[in-house]
Amino acid sequence: MAEKVVLAYSGGLDTSAAIRWIKEEHGMDVIAVTADVGAEKDLEAVRKKALKVGAVKALVMDMRETFVNQFVFPALQADAIYQGVYPLATALSRPLIARLLVDVAHKEGASAVSHGCTGKGNDQVRFDVTTAALGPDLKVIAPARDWGMTREQTIAYAKKHRIPVPVTVASPYSIDVNLWGRSVECGVLEDPWAEPPEEVYAWTVSPQKAPKEPLYVEIGFERGIPIALNKKKLGGVALIQELHKLAGKHGVGRIDHIEDRLVGIKSREIYEAPAGTVLFAAHKALEAMTLSKEQLRFKQTVAAEYASLIYNGLWFSSFHQDLMAYVQSTQRHVTGTVRVKLFKGTCTVVGRKSSYSLYQHKLATYDVGDQFDQSAAPGFIQIWGLPVRVQSQVQPDTKDI
Ligand code: ARG
Repeated sequence: MAEKVVLAYSGGLDTSAAIRWIKEEHGMDVIAVTADVGAEKDLEAVRKKALKVGAVKALVMDMRETFVNQFVFPALQADAIYQGVYPLATALSRPLIARLLVDVAHKEGASAVSHGCTGKGNDQVRFDVTTAALGPDLKVIAPARDWGMTREQTIAYAKKHRIPVPVTVASPYSIDVNLWGRSVECGVLEDPWAEPPEEVYAWTVSPQKAPKEPLYVEIGFERGIPIALNKKKLGGVALIQELHKLAGKHGVGRIDHIEDRLVGIKSREIYEAPAGTVLFAAHKALEAMTLSKEQLRFKQTVAAEYASLIYNGLWFSSFHQDLMAYVQSTQRHVTGTVRVKLFKGTCTVVGRKSSYSLYQHKLATYDVGDQFDQSAAPGFIQIWGLPVRVQSQVQPDTKDI
């Protein structure tokens, strides 16, 4: 009996060719697994195609809830944004898909897992490292990394083996889509000077064409998790989908980024993350109101570390568990509502409220009702400024700035 391998199957050209290639090169039976993380494709057609091109078994699993609850929302609570702009949509889906491959491999008695990543990107790292963590007994086969075929050669290989070449192959872009965002690279985008053509965007209108009137939306949070949109309670999947539409209509969520890959390459990628853009802004605004200055300052450091570990494929690591414990603890009081204004590509927080608010009107106000004791300020400043006074006396060059 042939050994089995569980392949992450997207239905695209590369993973379809991979089914055939693994059979030929490794003599293994391929079980195709397609994780539904919200790519909005006809997944039954994808499943059938896997069988048609030679998989012995093909499974489609709805992972949308898991993706949102176990991956996306914890990253949102952490404010995990890579290099200040990338909401990590692709990066977050990889450990989920890899875990699924490992689970299916163990269930099916397979000896290996497989993915369609090339040898130049981050995704191969995320798949391989997650497999190493969760299924160290499994081999990883990465056909696109091994076969060294160009796009044209892959198309020729597919044609030779009567693998249907989808029309979308004519598109010059490499696109990855899930519930949290779209990632687009290649084609003209490889010229960092070239403005992205409108056709790369699918979820957002051009800010120029957005409505002349702003739209206000309210996001309700409970412990750092969005639970309501415009006062309506919604599950995570529905809330994100709904918010994509509202923000996308106002041109919010376009990101053009030159980023640093783990493998040392700088690359140019376009992201669309309408819901993410709004939710990160709203979440941070609520934290600004409910966390102390020290919590906020340290949390920023944690956020950068959190984003890096997600980007670099270390989801299943003790480091992540440690940071997660801190982040979860910080979210105890991040409950409340944030009002956001969407207007011609911008997303601006214009209001926030929380029953755990540390903002106290009676302390902040310059009007009647002020309870801040101004007479205590000089004594405080006396002590706060003491080290500066001593230093300027003893080391007079301190003043030479
Ligand atoms: N640069 C992003 C990352 O490393 C996305 C990679 C996938 N992009 C794509 N267009 N296929 O997470």
